[in-house]
Amino acid sequence: MQHAEAIALLDWYVAAGVDVALGEDPADRFAETAREAQERQARARSGAETPPGPAAEVPEPSRTGDDAEERPARLPAGDARGTPPRRFEPPPERPRFEPPPQPVARATMGAAVPGDAAVGAARDAARNAATLGDLRAALESFDGCNLRTTAKRLVFADGDPGARVMLVGEAPGREEDDLGLPFVGRSGRLLDRMLATIGLERGAVYIANVVPWRPPGNRTPTPQETEICKPFIARQIELVDPDVLVFLGGAAAAALAGTTEGITRLRGRWIEYDTGRRNIRALATLHPAYLLRQPIQKRLAFRDLLALKRALGENERT
Ligand code: URA
Repeated sequence: MQHAEAIALLDWYVAAGVDVALGEDPADRFAETAREAQERQARARSGAETPPGPAAEVPEPSRTGDDAEERPARLPAGDARGTPPRRFEPPPERPRFEPPPQPVARATMGAAVPGDAAVGAARDAARNAATLGDLRAALESFDGCNLRTTAKRLVFADGDPGARVMLVGEAPGREEDDLGLPFVGRSGRLLDRMLATIGLERGAVYIANVVPWRPPGNRTPTPQETEICKPFIARQIELVDPDVLVFLGGAAAAALAGTTEGITRLRGRWIEYDTGRRNIRALATLHPAYLLRQPIQKRLAFRDLLALKRALGENERT
C-alpha cells in the first residue's frame, strides 16, 4: 500500500469513529459469526439444545448530529406478511471499547474518580475567562477532553455575541468539524429556514453546542465528556447573557437544564436557566436533525418558534 493510500485509509477510520487500535491483525467478525451460526445449526440438527439468541434490539440513534441519519436504522423486525423477525446473533465476546482514559483525580475519601480532575480543570479554565475570546482560547488549549484529539477543529460558536437569542445544540457533526462552525450541515440549513419563518436571520442569533468537538463517527458524547464540557458552555451562556435561550433537542436540555424529562414532554414549555447571576428564560424544542427524520413534527417546532417570537416581542416591551 502506498503512503498516501495508508493515510487516506487512516483518515477514513478516524472519520468512521475508530479511535483506538485493538490488535495488529484484522478480524473478520462476519466470518466468525457465520461460522458460529453454522456450528449452532449443526448442533441443532444433531439434537443438541441451542439457546435462543436475544431478539433484535438496536436502540434508536439518539445522537442528533447530521450524520445520525447515516447510521443503520433498527434491524428489520419481521414484515407485514408475517415473516418472523430475524434474530440478532451476538458476536463472540471481544474486548469492549473503552474511551481513552481521562485524567484521574483523588477524591477526598481517597478513591480514584476518573474525569474529576478534568471537570475541575474545566471549571477553573471557564471561570477565569473574562470574555468570549478568553473562553475560546481556554478551550483551544484545554486538553482534559479526549474528543479534541479526534476532532479536526474546535467548534466554538457562530452568530452575534450580542444577540438576544442564544441557541444551544448537542455536539458538532462532520460538516461542522470541517468548517469549525456550528449547525452548517443539513440540520443547520433547516435551522436557518426555521429561524427565517419568525424573521430571525442566522447572523442575528448566537449559536453554540454543549460539546464543542465532534465525537468520532458522530457518536453520542459520553456523560463524562458532557460533564467536562459543561462548565465551558455555562460560562459561554453567562458571557453572552441572552434574553432567551433555546435548547435544540433533548440532549442540550438535559445537560443544561438538568431535566430528566424527554424532549417531547419538555418542548414548548418555558423554564428558567440559572446562570448563577440571573435566571434566563429558556425554551427547549425539537432538534432540526430529528425534524429531518420526522418532518411531520415540524408543526410542533413551528409552535415553539412562535412562542419564541412572542417572548421576544414581550421582552422588547418591558
Ligand atoms: N447537531 C448539533 O447538535 N450541533 C451542530 O452543530 C450540528 C448538528
